Amino acid sequence: RAVEVVRELEAACGTSVNRLRQVVDAMAVEMHAGLASEGGSKLKMLLTFVDKLPNGSEKGIFYALDIGGTNFRVIRVHLGGRRSGILRHNVERNSIPQHLMTSTSEELFDFIAMSLKQFVDREEEKTSEPSLVSRRELGVTFPFPVKQRCVSSGILMKWTKGFSVADMIGKDVSESLQQSMIKKDLGSMRVAALVNDTVGTLAVGHYNDEDTVAAVIIGTGTNACYLERADAIIKSQGLLMASGGMVVNMEWGDFWSSHLPRTRYDIDLDAESPSPNDQVFEKMISGMYLGDIVRRVVLRISQESGIFGSASSRLSTPFILGTPLMATMHQDDTPDLREVAAILNDVLGIADVSLKARKLIVNICDIITHRAARLVAAGIVGILKKIGRDGSSGVAGGRAKGGGGASSSGGGKSRTVVAIEGSLYTNYTLFREYLNDAVAEILGKEFSPFVILKVTEDGSGIGAALLAASHSPNSADM
Ligand code: BG6
Ligand code: GLC
Repeated sequence: RAVEVVRELEAACGTSVNRLRQVVDAMAVEMHAGLASEGGSKLKMLLTFVDKLPNGSEKGIFYALDIGGTNFRVIRVHLGGRRSGILRHNVERNSIPQHLMTSTSEELFDFIAMSLKQFVDREEEKTSEPSLVSRRELGVTFPFPVKQRCVSSGILMKWTKGFSVADMIGKDVSESLQQSMIKKDLGSMRVAALVNDTVGTLAVGHYNDEDTVAAVIIGTGTNACYLERADAIIKSQGLLMASGGMVVNMEWGDFWSSHLPRTRYDIDLDAESPSPNDQVFEKMISGMYLGDIVRRVVLRISQESGIFGSASSRLSTPFILGTPLMATMHQDDTPDLREVAAILNDVLGIADVSLKARKLIVNICDIITHRAARLVAAGIVGILKKIGRDGSSGVAGGRAKGGGGASSSGGGKSRTVVAIEGSLYTNYTLFREYLNDAVAEILGKEFSPFVILKVTEDGSGIGAALLAASHSPNSADM
């Protein structure tokens, strides 16, 4: 019976290249719909008001906050201008205490402002570099959906990834942070850029490599952004005046299509979550959920077969099996799968499991990760298709310029770089391999060499600092 359940799972998670191409098309269609009108699609396609990406001329000292998924970072960057790049950067990694993720906005932002204040004081004390700007500018990476009317502020639309600070929804993020900063004696510092983590990643990717046109995060959550032509953003008519293009935050975690290979486990996970029907794509892909999908399959097997002995109550505890543990089991290269046995025993309370049953566990992890990685690949190719860089139209897009404005016309094949960040991609080798392989498979041999997926480290926070710089009147070589 156990083997039957796994076979059934494998069939339900099928991601043949044809199925992936349907997802590619659906992604491109939904992108069009989301750009056409507000609420036109589950894809929010949020305007970021980032209409110029950093190009190397930025100069000065800038600070950044990266309120990421697993990490919270405070950063100081010294930019040299005249293409001399980042002269120096210091990063302090921390994590947001669990209880603050469900507290009040005041408590959350007071903690963030306090960490920033301590960092600024330490940095300014230990370095003798003079601040090249009189007013210190701050870039903030805020990795949640935010409705913006300008690059420096925006209103929180909803929380994702387990955060739930109810009083914050509908409030201006920069204003709340600025209030806490005033309390901590940081009133002279100004939020110059409030950006999604994908946008920060795109900024740093583009700073390092001008062919970077899109960025994807695959960590606790998943999302993507890309450079879009202003005239393609129909819903913005009148808002984007002089700019040639703008970065669009897709919020693809909320993507939905009937072509997604959803299983009973995904449907149950979603139904039992605090936000049913929300972030369905993310719930099949990102680090917050993969381990729990595996747990659900193992639970069913233990209920329907004797392969795991008597069912343990721990197996019924949601989220007890984190994705890092799943990755360890999946990639266990000991001959008798000792690590699988240890995790089953220590975490799930299942002892003395046969080698056959351990292999089944590895198989389940493989099916779930394979599907997730291939869906991300389809999402990436969906973006490339939308901007004419997937080779399907016969002509690839022209080069993206720093001033914004991805092009969907122009001849020949051109190098296209997608910046990638997030713990799932960087720490989970098999996930990364499956993703890279699937992108190549969908694009085909002729076109795939032109598409490069590039990891950016500590990326989005530094990108936020770069964007604070490129949107600051005080920066840049004349
Ligand atoms: C980091 C980025 O590297 O990756 C963050 O700088 C981002 O802004 C994060 O949120 C996503 O990864 P994870 O695994 O922390 O959710
Ligand atoms: C979630 C957030 C999104 C973020 C992503 C990756 O999907 O809604 O804004 O970019 O996680 O961190």
